[in-house]
Formats: sequence, C-alpha cells, structure tokens
Amino acid sequence: MKAGVFDSGVGGLSVVKSLIEHNVFDEIVYYGDTARVPYGVKDKNTIIRYSLEALEFFKNFDIDILITACNTVSAYAIEELRETAPFNVVGVIEPGVIATCKKLRDKNADILVLGTKATVKSGKYSRLLQEKGYTNINSLAPSLFVPIVEEGIFEGELLQTTMQYYFANIEKDPDAIILGCTHFPMIFDALQKYFPKSTLIHSGEAIVEYLESKFNFSHSTEKTKLMLFSSENPDGLKTTAKQWLQTEI
Ligand code: DGL
Repeated sequence: MKAGVFDSGVGGLSVVKSLIEHNVFDEIVYYGDTARVPYGVKDKNTIIRYSLEALEFFKNFDIDILITACNTVSAYAIEELRETAPFNVVGVIEPGVIATCKKLRDKNADILVLGTKATVKSGKYSRLLQEKGYTNINSLAPSLFVPIVEEGIFEGELLQTTMQYYFANIEKDPDAIILGCTHFPMIFDALQKYFPKSTLIHSGEAIVEYLESKFNFSHSTEKTKLMLFSSENPDGLKTTAKQWLQTEI
C-alpha cells in the first residue's frame, strides 16, 4: 500500500518515523510545504486552500491513503480534504487523543495541550478529550517552536530561552502534555527536561493502532520506501529526515 503524508514542513516526519518503524506501508510519499510553513498562524481559509493545493500534488502519485501529519490541517481542513480526495484521508488529532487515553487513566489529570495558534483556537483537542471524560485541560500555543524546529534546532540555548518565554507562568509540571503539533516530538527531550514530571504524548504513538482499527490492511514485509518532496529547500527536509529517521535517504 502506498501512503501520502503531508505537513506544512518537516514536522510530519515524526509521524513517518512511527509508520516506518511498524512497516505499515510499502511506500510513503512525503510532502512538506516548506515554502509556506508555518500554517499554524494562518487563518482557516488559508489553511484549507493550502491543504487542497497539497492534495493536487498527491494526485500525481497514485496513493491509496493520505495522512495529514499536521494537527493544524487536521483541525481545519480534514472535511474539505475528505470531500475532494479520491482516497481516504486520515488526520492526527484522533490518534493523539487515543494515545492520551491509553497513557492517562486518571480523568482528573492536569493536561496541557501544546499546539499551534490555529489548533488551539479550534478547540478540537479539548472537545475530544472532554468527550472522553477528561475534565482538567489547558492549552497553549508556543508558535516559535515551529520555525526553530524547521531550522534544525532541537536543543540548546535558543530553545531553552523560548521554552522559558512560553512556560514562565506554569507553576507545576502538568500530569500530561500533549504534543499537539507534529513538529514538537522533535524537541521531545528538551521538553521532557523542562517538565521532568510530566508524561509527554503525541499522535505518532497511536497512529499505527488508529490505522489498523480503521482500515483492514496487511503490513509491508519489505522496508518502507520513502520519497521526500517539499515546496522549497529540499535539502533542509532531507537533512532533518536523515537525522530524525536515522536512515539514508
Ligand atoms: N506541524 C504542524 C502541526 O502539527 C504545523 C506547524 C505549522 O505549520 O505551524 O500543527
């Protein structure tokens, strides 16, 4: 089976990592819209337009399924993509919620959702978590993490200062932090160091289970073939992919 995976930039590689580790697909065509990242500070109509344009890109590749490995797109454009696409379209917010339910038994746990401005504004995580019975949910949009990760910065002083800027008012480590932007798993270690007592959760962890529960397909027996495309700076995407996936591209 051949999947398309789409994100505004490099962040969707955090989802690709899980898909490759579990040999879910024979082939993955990855498209990062690096010329127009970040999506998370744009308005709904722009996010929908960019997403439908990305869909056009995938129409050249004869894919069986499209995974929008971007929470922002999953929050705003999933319906439009599903209406237009000639294949199934899967988002990452539901897998993120599944991963949370698996890891967090206490419904009164103090949950912090980190996402882009657009994702936080959509309220989608909070709504789905409330439907699952969770009562104590806060959200925050540390937007600058996205360009920092796009620059290939996953640790160090700049990231530390940025974390301090956004997290200064958080007095106690939340019980759980949902990495509601696919760029954020790339700074997992730095976030975990900042909040040592928190359980960090992201959609890549449950995407395989989610796909298995929705679609009945056999896993690939071969190593997944990965093709990388971007609307700008393909070398930047390749460098991050090599580092993050620890493989030759
Ligand atoms: N990686 C994306 C997400 O999951 C979007 C980041 C951005 O473009 O702002 O929301």
